[in-house]
Amino acid sequence: LLPAKIQLLPSELTLKIFSYLNPKELCQCKQVCTQWDTLAGDPSLWTSLHPVRWAQGDWRFNISVEEMELEEDPYDNSLTCTIDEDADVDESESSGESDGLDSLDPNSQLNQIRREAKMLSSIVKYLLPAVGRSVQTINLSYSKSVTNGLVYKILQQTPNVKHLNLSSTKISDVAFKGLRRHHSCSGLEHLDLSGCVNITNLTLVRFGDAFMRGLYKVIEENPKSTSEFDKNGKRILNGSSPDRLETDSESDSGVCPNCGNLRKKRSSLSGVEEHVLSKQEERDSKLGAPSEKRTLKFLSLSGCFKITDEGLSALLDAGPYPYLHHLDLSGCLNVTARGLSDFVKACDSLNHEEFFYCDNILEGPYAQTASGCQNLECSNRVCCRSGE
Ligand code: FES
Repeated sequence: LLPAKIQLLPSELTLKIFSYLNPKELCQCKQVCTQWDTLAGDPSLWTSLHPVRWAQGDWRFNISVEEMELEEDPYDNSLTCTIDEDADVDESESSGESDGLDSLDPNSQLNQIRREAKMLSSIVKYLLPAVGRSVQTINLSYSKSVTNGLVYKILQQTPNVKHLNLSSTKISDVAFKGLRRHHSCSGLEHLDLSGCVNITNLTLVRFGDAFMRGLYKVIEENPKSTSEFDKNGKRILNGSSPDRLETDSESDSGVCPNCGNLRKKRSSLSGVEEHVLSKQEERDSKLGAPSEKRTLKFLSLSGCFKITDEGLSALLDAGPYPYLHHLDLSGCLNVTARGLSDFVKACDSLNHEEFFYCDNILEGPYAQTASGCQNLECSNRVCCRSGE
């Protein structure tokens, strides 16, 4: 068909043809005419984002979870480049001057990182405003150019993301500021933060609040079921008077405004398992199975050595995780047997073979059937026995 005749095809047919194209080809189609610009930018075509792979020339949309899990660092670890961790999105239109990288070293890997940085900037600036709500998979594993500012902006525009892989990046807690405010990550199914050595309990507090936001959505959909929430959708803590309602700012930061420490939430209650399970079941029955909103199935914090029991406890604030089957806490040196036990009691579907934690934790849960630390022979993940 001549180009002019192709443009006479009904939009539905053109869209169907576009669904077989990769992101690079779609971007080329967007430059043909206004009609194709609109059709190639249809949200239904952009449900998965793999910018790191795209920058390496692998232009696929559909990459299986298994393939993502087997992903290896495409860059030489000895490679040094300068990325401003707190830099905001690159606003420059052009070609290579302000991409946050050391532009003096022209080797191919640096060029690849530079491509990746520009691609991420363009995605945030031009693509996500149009298609962000349809994005369900974000894979930034091993990205050397991603910054806290970029992750913040990506999550701000993708409220329906289900699969988030930020493994082996340099992001820190700042990236997840405002998760709940942006209604992002509340329906997350897969969260991989393995190798993110800079994150602390505050990240888990923020994810816990985001998962709780999923419950608020249920309340908005079931306005009669507000017995444990005020009219603004804020949660009334167990046994609290209305003056002890969580405020947005408090719950978002998880930090006590008086002492500056992370708030102890569940840990101050009498028995985490009792509270979480019984109160949540009670709430589930009132709200019509809101557990459907706590859909987390896969959680990896491998090598996140700053995480403690308090971080796991903060995650429990969103209630139990009835679908969680994979939990990797290898290299979480500061988590104890008590913290592990409290957490796994809220995970009915946990597959013991997919439950990993430090070999040196004595009397940990499911000691006979759970798997040990995965990081023993791993050179780039934290492990208390590295070097033995
Ligand atoms: Fe203890 Fe790896 S973290 S054995």
